[in-house]
Amino acid sequence: MLLPDDRVLALETSCDDTCAAVVSGDGRILASVVSSQGIHAEYLGVVPELASRAHLDLLDPAIHQALDASSTRIEDLAAIAVTRGPGLIGCLLVGLATAKALAYGLGRPFVGVNHIEGHLRAIQGVRRFDPPFVALVASGGHTELLHAETWGSYRLLGATRDDAAGEAFDKVAKLLGLGFPGGPMIDRLSSEGNPRAFEFPRAWLGLDQGGLELSFSGLKTAVRQTVESRAPSDGAARDQFVRDVAASFQAAVVDVLVAKTAKACEQTGSKRILLAGGVACNRALRAGMAALAERIGGEAAWPPPALCADNAAMIGLAALPRLARGESDPLDLSAIANLDDLGWGK
Ligand code: KG4
Ligand code: ZN
Repeated sequence: MLLPDDRVLALETSCDDTCAAVVSGDGRILASVVSSQGIHAEYLGVVPELASRAHLDLLDPAIHQALDASSTRIEDLAAIAVTRGPGLIGCLLVGLATAKALAYGLGRPFVGVNHIEGHLRAIQGVRRFDPPFVALVASGGHTELLHAETWGSYRLLGATRDDAAGEAFDKVAKLLGLGFPGGPMIDRLSSEGNPRAFEFPRAWLGLDQGGLELSFSGLKTAVRQTVESRAPSDGAARDQFVRDVAASFQAAVVDVLVAKTAKACEQTGSKRILLAGGVACNRALRAGMAALAERIGGEAAWPPPALCADNAAMIGLAALPRLARGESDPLDLSAIANLDDLGWGK
């Protein structure tokens, strides 16, 4: 059982952000700490082994910071929640082992959470937006279209066959020499570029026949070929080329994501759309989804940026219903790297 003023510590270490949060039993976010691991910038991508080692260093300080910021004594915690998967296995294990040790030491219940469900629940940190809805979860590690019938009951409609949408943003940014993570930079530069300057391919993958799978690797290759064959060597011409490639690439990603979401709405009869994950920060994607919602007479919603990107508050929010029902997980719960293996089980 969970009371409204009870406090739950949540941990999230599935990728390269070391996150700790404290949420109340009635769903208020009392503190949310995200320690981003700067170490990956020089590699222009997440290095799994470095990420898990960095979690070891950063997780304890993040927990202390979250407890201090919410004026919570560790012995007053009612429960511990943690991401169980999907994610990088070494990274997941750091969070899971820490959560188990805390739960065991404090004699409190412990709940393992599906990271994707966390992304879906993040919206609850700011407003009510309840199923049924179609959700697009797009981040550096995932791109999934889901139909949420009720909270906790999700059907996978389609996923990427290769790169995640955020990964494509990061790789294209790398090709353009923009640094890591690339999404925010491409988003910003695109507003000064021409989205029709380059006709990059859109992988429709049988959209007309109802195909909801996605693919971004062909688009990435097309961008690489364009950069290799047509980039001016320097000066203002190069700057404009970079903006135009960024805008044309972003337009291709957004076109596909919006069209696939539109088809998912048609197939499920849903007119409500939830955007989640780091790519949900993208302004063109938000505008495209808002336009789609208007066209079909529905509604599109997304969390604020801090709740779109990986964070532990969403993991705490996702754990609350189970804790409220008096459920918990055994201390031998395993980490599971792949969504296919993890499923949506409670
Ligand atoms: O959810 P998130 O913080 O971590 C993962 O689970 O991956 O998402 C990070 C991803 C990165 O690939 C980043 O480039 C992308 O989200 N991203 C964006 C934007 N902000 C972050 N992509 C496009 N436009 C943005 N504004
Ligand atoms: Zn994520």
